[in-house]
Amino acid sequence: MAEQTWHTRPETTADAPAIREILLGAFLTAEEANLVDALREDASWIDGLSLVAVAEDDTVAGQALLTRCHIGQTPALCLAPCAVLPSHQRSGAGSAAIRAALAAAQEQGEAFVVVLGHPEYYPRFGFDRASAHGISLSIEVPDEALMALSLDPARPLPSGVVRYAAPFGI
Ligand SMILES: CC(C)(COP(=O)(O)OP(=O)(O)OC[C@H]1O[C@@H](n2cnc3c(N)ncnc32)[C@H](O)[C@@H]1OP(=O)(O)O)[C@@H](O)C(=O)NCCC(=O)NCCS
Repeated sequence: MAEQTWHTRPETTADAPAIREILLGAFLTAEEANLVDALREDASWIDGLSLVAVAEDDTVAGQALLTRCHIGQTPALCLAPCAVLPSHQRSGAGSAAIRAALAAAQEQGEAFVVVLGHPEYYPRFGFDRASAHGISLSIEVPDEALMALSLDPARPLPSGVVRYAAPFGI
């Protein structure tokens, strides 16, 4: 799909069905769609940190979600899930939603973000290998899949084990 201009904004209540459709399309099972519905009801949810990418024809095509987690005792954000409608993948929607989410987090004074995902994708947003900062998970994952980012040059990433919000079940 050709590159196009993406408008980004925080999700509204009216976006929930479209976001569910994105997640059901992007992933093999309903797990991520159910996870996002559970996160909306969870204490880890932070208003303004679920960002959607909207196409020129007003299709809500992508979502990036940041929720509260901890690195050791330090509050941080978890970027998960990120998803784009299959029909709109690889046209910049995911990148637009992720960049908007990180910018919104920075504006809210958040400093640290972790992500578990494709190691070829997230370094373009500034993430690098979490283990290089002494950050780990309580479950076995490929070392390169856990990545971390500091949004504040004055605050280096803390080390520690990532504690996800309860709905993640990690
Ligand atoms: C991963 C995802 C969010 C990326 O969003 P997107 O809008 O398709 O991606 P963008 O257009 O912003 O960026 C394109 C680049 O993303 C990378 N990319 C996309 N999907 C990828 C994948 N499954 N694995 C690795 N890299 C991927 C490629 O490098 C691509 O570059 P290319 O165009 O040179 O091939 C989206 O493809 C998606 O929903 N995939 C299915 C669900 C998923 O895997 N979510 C992420 C969980 S970690």
